[in-house]
Amino acid sequence: MLTAESDLLVLGKTIDIASGGKGDFTLQTKVLIKPEANFELSGFYKSGSAYCTQCEAEGFRRITYYLDRPDVMARFKVRIEADKAKLPLLLSNGNKVGTGELPGGRHFAEWEDPFPKPSYLFAVVAGDLGSIVDTYKTTSGRDVRLEIFSEHDNVDKLEHAMMSLKKSMKWDEDVYGLEYDLDIYNIVAVNDFNMGAMENKGLNVFNTAFVLAKPETATDTDYERIEGVIAHEYFHNWSGNRVTCQDWFQLTLKEGLTVFRDQQFSADMGSAAVKRIEDVRVLRARQFAEDSGPRAHAIRPESYMKMDNFYTSTVYEKGAEVIRMYHTLLGTEGFRKGMDLYFERHDGSAVTCDDFRAAMSDANGGKDFGQFERWYLQAGTPVVEAKGVYDAAKKTYSLTLSQHTAGTVGQPSKLPFHIPVRVGLLGRDGKEVVSSQVLELKEASQTFYFEGIEGGEPVPSLLRGFSAPVRLKTQQTEEDLAFLMAHDTDSFNRWEASQKLASQAILATTEALTEEKTPEPLAPTMIEAFRAVLKAGLDSESVDKSLLAYALSLPEELTLLGEMDVMRPVDLHKGRDHVKKTLAVALKAEFLKVYKALDQDVPYAVNPEEIGRRRLKNVCMSYLCTSKDKDAVALASSAFKRATCMTDSIAALACLASLPGSEKDEALQMFYSNAKGDPLVLNKWFSIQALADLPDTIDRIQVLIKHPDFSMKNPNRFRALIGAFANSNLAQFHAEDGRGYVLVADMVLAVDKLNPQVAARLAGAFSLWRKFESSRRNMMKEQLDRLMTVGDGLSRDTYEIVSQSLLSA
Ligand code: BES
Ligand code: ZN
Repeated sequence: MLTAESDLLVLGKTIDIASGGKGDFTLQTKVLIKPEANFELSGFYKSGSAYCTQCEAEGFRRITYYLDRPDVMARFKVRIEADKAKLPLLLSNGNKVGTGELPGGRHFAEWEDPFPKPSYLFAVVAGDLGSIVDTYKTTSGRDVRLEIFSEHDNVDKLEHAMMSLKKSMKWDEDVYGLEYDLDIYNIVAVNDFNMGAMENKGLNVFNTAFVLAKPETATDTDYERIEGVIAHEYFHNWSGNRVTCQDWFQLTLKEGLTVFRDQQFSADMGSAAVKRIEDVRVLRARQFAEDSGPRAHAIRPESYMKMDNFYTSTVYEKGAEVIRMYHTLLGTEGFRKGMDLYFERHDGSAVTCDDFRAAMSDANGGKDFGQFERWYLQAGTPVVEAKGVYDAAKKTYSLTLSQHTAGTVGQPSKLPFHIPVRVGLLGRDGKEVVSSQVLELKEASQTFYFEGIEGGEPVPSLLRGFSAPVRLKTQQTEEDLAFLMAHDTDSFNRWEASQKLASQAILATTEALTEEKTPEPLAPTMIEAFRAVLKAGLDSESVDKSLLAYALSLPEELTLLGEMDVMRPVDLHKGRDHVKKTLAVALKAEFLKVYKALDQDVPYAVNPEEIGRRRLKNVCMSYLCTSKDKDAVALASSAFKRATCMTDSIAALACLASLPGSEKDEALQMFYSNAKGDPLVLNKWFSIQALADLPDTIDRIQVLIKHPDFSMKNPNRFRALIGAFANSNLAQFHAEDGRGYVLVADMVLAVDKLNPQVAARLAGAFSLWRKFESSRRNMMKEQLDRLMTVGDGLSRDTYEIVSQSLLSA
C-alpha cells in the first residue's frame, strides 16, 4: 500500500502521482481555499455569511484533485469542522452520522452518503441559517425528514417551497412509482448562485429566487416557477442521481428527461394546456433562436470548451421535447414501461442517451427508434409543410406532410427526422370528423389518407399540443384560423390559431412600416376572434381565464424576429405595438369591461382560478395602456396604488414604467421603499426599469449601474438589470445608435473578470448578429470583434461564446 500525503498544495491544473507500487493505494490531499475570494461561484464559495458549494459541471476540481467526471462514482464520507458560534449549521450529502464539540469553541459534523455518486453531486453547506421542518411518509412507509434552510430573515417565505416538495414526492410515486431513498432531504437557499438550483444528493442548493415566496414579494409566476424548480431538482434524485450521465455530452439524458418530468408535474398541478402554452412560448423564443444561429447544436453536443456553456435551451427545452416525442409515440403506458425498464437496468450506473432510447424500444416490443436517433445528432429546427386536399366525390381527405431542415454550422445537410404529428379533422360544425391521432412522418414527404369524411371539406388541426419541435407551415386562411380559435377541440391549438393570426398581422404591419407604407387595417375576422375571447372572459366561471389571457397575448418579439428573413427589431417592435394598439382601440369597451369585472377586491389566493383572473385582468390593462395617454397613466397608477399582491403591483408598474409623465418615477420610488431592502424585490425593481420602453431607457440603466444596490457580484442582481435589458428589451438593446450594444459589451468585459459564466451568457446576446439588417449587423460585429481583441484576457467561457458567434455557416 502506497500512501502519498502531500504537503499543502496550491491548486494547479494537474497533479502527477508517481505510483511506484502495485495495487491499491490511498491518496490524501490537503488544500487551502479562499471561498470569500471565489466570485465565480463554482467550487467552494461564500454567499452572505454562509459557505456553500456548487460542483456541477466541473466545480469539484476547484475544491480538490479528483477524477472529476460523472462516470467516476464513489461513496462520500465528509467531516466538517468550524467555529460553532459563527457556523452552527454543518451540512453535507446523505445521513448525519456524528457530531461533537472541539476545543476553542469549534465543533464538527460527519456525514455519510450511502449511494455512490459522481463528484458533481457533492455538496457542503456551513452557516448560521434558519429553517422550517416537515415530514413525508413514502408509500412503502419510510419517514423522511424535510428541512428547508435560508437566512433567518427568509424563514417566513419557505412554506410554499415545502408544500411544493411534498407534492413532488407524492407525484413521482403516483406517476412513476419512484420513491425517495434517504431519511432526510435538505434544501438550502442562498442569494448568490449562478443557476436556478442544484440537485446534490440529499442536499439541494437553491438560488433564493426559486424558493422564497410570500404574496407581498412573489408574483404568481414566481409561485409557479418555484413549484416547478423544486420538483425538477427532486425528480433528479432518480433521473440524474440514481441513474447518471456517462459523460457531459449526455447532459440531456438527465436534463431533458427531468425538464419533461417537471413539465408533466406542473401540468398535473394546474392546467395542462396552460402549462403547454407557457413551455412552447419559451421554446419558440429561446430555443428556436439558438437553433437558427452559429451556436446551433444537437441536444447531444459533440464538443465543448467549457461545459457550463452547454446548459442551453437546446439541451434542456428541446431535450424535453425529444422525451415528449417518445411519450407521444408510445402513449402514457408504453412510456411508463420504458421508464421502468430504464431505471431497472441502469440503477446505480452512469449511462448514455442510447441506453435510454434502447430501454424505450425494448420495453415496447422493439419499437423502431433507429431514425429517432437523429434528434440527438442533428441541430436545427425542421420546417414541416402541410397541404390538404379534399375529394368531395370520394369523401377522402389527403394530407401531405413534408419536412426540411436548413443546414447549420458544421452540418450543411440534414437527413429527415422521425416526427410525430398529432392531427384531428374538424367539420364546419365544430365537431371532430377525425379524432386525434399521431401520424409518423419519417420521409422527406409523405401523404396520409382519411376516408369517409362527410359534411364537406374539413378543417385540419395539425401538430396538436405541439407534438414535435418544428416550425409548421400551413395554407390556413384567416377564416380557418378564426374558426380553429373558436372551435378546435385541442385547447393548445385554439391558442396556436390566435398566435398565427396575430403573427401574420404583426409581420405584415412591420413590413409596411419598414417600407414606409401605411399598414393595412387589421382583418375584421381577427378583431372578431379577439372580441369572442374577451366575451368568454365575462361569460362563465368555468372558462380557464389563463387560456383566454394567453390567447390575447401577442407572440413574443424574439419569436417574431425569428420569422423575419432580415431582422429589424425596432420596426418589429413598432409593428407589434401598432397591432396591439389597433386591437385596443377596436375593442376598448370590451377590454375595459373585462378589466372591471375581474378587478375584484378578494382575499389573495394562489390557485389556477385566481391566477387566471389576475392574468386576464392584467393583460386587459396592458392593452388599455397602449394609448399612452392620461387615461392609461390614471389606470395603471390606480392599479399600482390599490395592488395588494406582488403580481398586481408588478403588472401595474410594468405598464406605468413605459408611459410618459412623472407618475412612473413616483411609483418606482414607492416600490423601492416598500421593498425594504428585500433582494428579490429589488431585482424586480431593477428589471422593470431595464425593460421599460422609453427614449432614455439606456441613460436610466447607466444611472442604475451606479446605484448602491447594483452589484456585479450577485448574478441575480446583474441579470435583473443587464440580462433583462439585453435579452428581453429588444427595441432598446438594438437601438438605432448602437449604444445598447456598447453598453452590453462593456458589461460583458466587466463581469467577465468576476464571473465568467455570467459573462458568457450575456455575450450570447450578440450571437444572431448575421441575421440583422446591415447597420445593426455591423455594429454587433464590431462589439464581438472588440471582445475578441481582449484575447488572453477573456475567460475561456466568454471566449467560446464570442468565437462561436463569429463562425459562419
Ligand atoms: N443540474 C442543474 C443545475 C446546474 C446547471 C448546475 C448548470 C450547474 C450548471 C439543475 O438541475 C437545473 O437544471 N436547474 C435549472 C432549473 C430547472 C428547473 C430547469 C436551472 O438552474 O436553471
Ligand atoms: Zn436539472
